[in-house]
Amino acid sequence: MLRARRYKAKFGDMEVVRTIEELQTSGGALRRRFGSLALVPTMGALHDGHRALVKAAVDSGAGIVASIFVNPLQFNANEDLSRYPRDEAGDLAALRACGCHLVWLPDVATMYPLEGATTITVAGPAEEWEGKARPGHFRGVATVCAKLFGQVRPDRAYFGEKDWQQLQVVRRMVADLHLPLEIVAVPTVREPDGLAMSSRNRFLNAEERAIAPGLHVILSATATALRSGSASDAALAAADRDLNQAGFQVDYLALVDAATMSALPQMAPGARLIVAARLGTVRLIDNIAV
Ligand code: PAF
Repeated sequence: MLRARRYKAKFGDMEVVRTIEELQTSGGALRRRFGSLALVPTMGALHDGHRALVKAAVDSGAGIVASIFVNPLQFNANEDLSRYPRDEAGDLAALRACGCHLVWLPDVATMYPLEGATTITVAGPAEEWEGKARPGHFRGVATVCAKLFGQVRPDRAYFGEKDWQQLQVVRRMVADLHLPLEIVAVPTVREPDGLAMSSRNRFLNAEERAIAPGLHVILSATATALRSGSASDAALAAADRDLNQAGFQVDYLALVDAATMSALPQMAPGARLIVAARLGTVRLIDNIAV
């Protein structure tokens, strides 16, 4: 109880809590005040993409809870967790400015107590693409999201379309486990030149930053070609060549079913183009409806 009192803080109208007890007290009060709760899960380093999630949640009229937790379980051994950008003061100011009511800021020991024995593995939409490129990543995402949903008990949770596969994995988990909340998707927010907003963009050097918008340009041109009847093999091969020529190292580029994430041999209703490509040490992902 002493610990709870020490950590709780107020930033104007916004409250910041760091223990489960505080979250349940303050979350309960928020639910009584607004009638429902909306959760925006984040790993901090907030940008306009996150602001759009909070704004969409605010528009729903619910009490808004944003979580900031850099989840070690979704980083694998080859990924540098310590390199993940952190800016707690900047994030709290941004959340307050967007109209967030409550910030959930647990530490690793609170989220993953030593006696914990449960993780969540989603098959289906988690298996390919990011699932293959980043083994264990979606087990970490699904586990932390299930924990956040259990801790906050939101009526709705907001996810960006930028991480399209993550969105499908979370949706699948919520459906399979009959979790009592709605997952709301928010369109990708882009820089004026088309680059999808991402916490990783800050790691691009000037030369890479100049090349980076090409990812969206090439993806959009490929979607247009597919819509106007180009064969998917030829369109994907041309896009792969264009990306390489622009300076990207392509991890994958695929036409997939938007919900199951299975590769499609040809255009079909609900198709989505997905891509992951590297510029130097920075790995960018993007996607577009076809
Ligand atoms: O998209 C993210 O920022 C993270 O994967 C999420 C959903 C907050 C889980 O850690």
